Amino acid sequence: MQIRRATEADFVSMWSIFHAVVASGDTYVFAPTTSREDAHVYWLNPGITTFVADLKGSIVGFYKLIPNQRDLGSHVANASFMVSPAAHGKGVGKAMGEHCLIEARKAGYQALQFNFVVSTNKSAIALWKKLGFAIVGTLPKAFNHQQLGYVDAHVMHRFLDDIVVP
Ligand SMILES: CC(C)(COP(=O)(O)OP(=O)(O)OC[C@H]1O[C@@H](n2cnc3c(N)ncnc32)[C@H](O)[C@@H]1OP(=O)(O)O)[C@@H](O)C(=O)NCCC(=O)NCCS
Repeated sequence: MQIRRATEADFVSMWSIFHAVVASGDTYVFAPTTSREDAHVYWLNPGITTFVADLKGSIVGFYKLIPNQRDLGSHVANASFMVSPAAHGKGVGKAMGEHCLIEARKAGYQALQFNFVVSTNKSAIALWKKLGFAIVGTLPKAFNHQQLGYVDAHVMHRFLDDIVVP
């Protein structure tokens, strides 16, 4: 599997994965009815660094890396990840997470922060903990889970000083 920068041509596959991920309403705040245009702005607007996981020409996941805040908060990165539901549990998320830590370090960020990890998203929380993130805060009932109702969301954070750029 190759992890490489996303191109405009990748968006057809990215849109299909995005649509499948948000359909269940259990991990992201995007409504299942989010438009293709809104998804395009979120993932591929100028200034956004997006990578795809390319398995023999087939896109199985993608992530974006941006400053978490502007100006005086821009030394901390933020990232979002999506793996095709058909490819969950096969190491794609882990490979992209490790790649992201190196890219964030290479870009000069001091830390990486996830602002909104749904507390019931066990696979994401397990993966981020495995990659060295800690839950540094919890937002009570911040997410309207489409099966469970209002549930908490975590802020997860990790400094990057131990990340070795190959
Ligand atoms: C969360 C997500 C990115 C994980 O990617 P993935 O490719 O499915 O995960 P991986 O196969 O790389 O698994 C990595 C680790 O996560 C953990 N994990 C994965 N699935 C799990 C599950 N169902 N339950 C518990 N832990 C799980 C394991 O610790 C695993 O490590 P191991 O293989 O060494 O045991 C992916 O499931 C996804 O896109 N989900 C929908 C969108 C989303 O939640 N994005 C993240 C928002 S914060």
